[in-house]
Amino acid sequence: MSYHKAATPKFPHILHGGDYNPEQWLNYPDVLSEDIRLMKLANINCVSLGIFAWAHLEPEKDKFSFEWLDKIIDRLYENGIHVILATPSGSRPHWLADEYPEVLRVNEGGQRALYGNRHNHCYTSPAYRERVRIINTKLAERYASHPAVILWHISNEYGGDCHCELCQQVFRDWLKSKYGSLDVLNHAWWSNFWSHTYTSWEQIHSPTGLGESAIHGLDLDWKRFVTHQTIDFMKTEISAVRSVEPSVPVTANLMGIYNYFLDYYALGKELDVVSWDSYPEWHLPNRNFEVARNESLSHDMMRSVKQRSFLLMECTPSTTNWRSISKLKKPGMHELAVMNAIAHGADSALYFQLRQSRGSAEKFHSAVISHTGTENTRVFREVAELGKKLSALSEKIYGSSTDSDVAIIFDTENKWAMDKCQGPRNAGLDYFGIIQSCYDYFWRNGINTDIVDSTYDLSKYRLVIAPMLYMFRAGIQEKLRRFVADGGILVTTAFSGVVNDTDLCFLGEATEEKLSDVTGMWVEETDSLYDGENNSMVWNGKSYWLRELCELVHPTGCEVLAEYDSDFYKGTPAMTVNRFGKGRAYHICSIADTGLYSDLFAEISAELGLEKAIDADIPDNVSASYRNGDGEKLVFLQNYADSSAEIKIRGEYTDMLTGETLRDVITLPGLSAKIVSEV
Ligand code: GAL
Repeated sequence: MSYHKAATPKFPHILHGGDYNPEQWLNYPDVLSEDIRLMKLANINCVSLGIFAWAHLEPEKDKFSFEWLDKIIDRLYENGIHVILATPSGSRPHWLADEYPEVLRVNEGGQRALYGNRHNHCYTSPAYRERVRIINTKLAERYASHPAVILWHISNEYGGDCHCELCQQVFRDWLKSKYGSLDVLNHAWWSNFWSHTYTSWEQIHSPTGLGESAIHGLDLDWKRFVTHQTIDFMKTEISAVRSVEPSVPVTANLMGIYNYFLDYYALGKELDVVSWDSYPEWHLPNRNFEVARNESLSHDMMRSVKQRSFLLMECTPSTTNWRSISKLKKPGMHELAVMNAIAHGADSALYFQLRQSRGSAEKFHSAVISHTGTENTRVFREVAELGKKLSALSEKIYGSSTDSDVAIIFDTENKWAMDKCQGPRNAGLDYFGIIQSCYDYFWRNGINTDIVDSTYDLSKYRLVIAPMLYMFRAGIQEKLRRFVADGGILVTTAFSGVVNDTDLCFLGEATEEKLSDVTGMWVEETDSLYDGENNSMVWNGKSYWLRELCELVHPTGCEVLAEYDSDFYKGTPAMTVNRFGKGRAYHICSIADTGLYSDLFAEISAELGLEKAIDADIPDNVSASYRNGDGEKLVFLQNYADSSAEIKIRGEYTDMLTGETLRDVITLPGLSAKIVSEV
């Protein structure tokens, strides 16, 4: 399958630029005009404006001040620079909180926050929604038709929850419409346990360490509600700008796979374009390759949310300022990281930030224009050089598609459920870890992979991997059953299909609810291993370590591929496969090291003839991936080692930047990327 659509139709180019905060510099007119000169020198074609500018847009209630922004947008546009315009709800002016204290969040201990910081509004507050609607509408009326404005940047990094009375009330209403009656809710939440049966809706309170934290269904529904309410808030923001001018697309900046406080799959569906902020921790000793893999996984997830290219909304040109140790990006690293984002479907390289702030919390976060205020810095030169390359590549890459035959299911609700499940391993069920391990083979071998959740259509894939899918959300069993029956290959692991979507355990031995008909087995018990304790198994003559969880299973038709080597369950199945309809379902009954997943996926990929980025021997520390351009396969090669790497290729390729024909060997200097197309 192929997805191909422009993220910013009004300006169909790879975007290069980022967060720009001229409101911090209004008393420095020379700085503002110098910025335009420097942006042009840095090959910047787009800036994100107004993200935290509310106090300058509406200094007093209903007194608006747009003249400064008019001038800036006009001047940027005259100089060929486009604008992603933000709604300012990520941070509010003092007057707003003074007049409407309800906009301030209440924590789970019941304390209302004082004014300060950001990303901390109550998303239910009618007053906040109304003030946001007013300012968003004003912005849209004034700027949505401006030729410079190509995209709305809705708020900033939505997240967190609020436990105020307004939220409690809306939560109860949300539950009423979900469950209809307290009887249904009490059953779904198993709240008769410890006599916690609800006898009135008013008794329901958000989960808190001070009160109820033992009802897992409550916890799950609260998290779902927080996503729902955040989306609801976001929709009021979006409808304010869309009602003025519907043609400008909207995005909100997400935070990749590691932020699981909100269900990004649900949120992303409401956006025209997904964008995200990527801040990997580069240059940990010998870890760049692993960090790049995990980063690629996030890029793939962000692309998969809307099944189309996404925007890299923020990354740092060099260092952050919020890690315990904030390291510089070594020469080459910035370009390499940006090219990796583009390789996985990004159509932009946008930075936080263009001009380094002079004071307050982010004064030491790097920027394209540093405190020196000149072009004479290493970071500026690297950014300018990258901008030149992106502009040369834009026509071929922008909007090109990514095709995947493989999907890994990463499900946010499943993560929430496992975090709270109080099950066999409260010391940690490493959901991210197993997702990364399963992804590793495809990433190293340049096989494009989608990262989707249980709500997605799976029928278009040939291989679906559902690691540790503890919670079977309604409908997933039927989807997986049909997928395998129709010829797909499914791989599951230990701790799969244990509970339903309110965290009630499935009853019975071999049942369709647990998908036993598809896997040809069922699980009787699950042993937990101490940290450092292992079991093992032999498959295809090779031995593999197993850890953390070992399921004791009953085959009911599957073929046993490997058995446990030790413990009282020695000789019982450790890995199985079952033919079902036209397809097959593999089950790994434990948690393995990456090697087992890689060997299994290598065998399956060869059998399915899955397309790889390039016909080559890819050395260690090098990754490859591809996008499909207009009749052309665009191959991205990246070397994460400090020293140069040689890739032995079969066939001929063209270096897309130099036009050079490449045969036999492609040499990549340390920390560098190359984009080639198949001849
Ligand atoms: C992001 C945020 C930006 C800036 C940046 C610093 O999470 O959206 O406003 O704070 O981090 O790395």
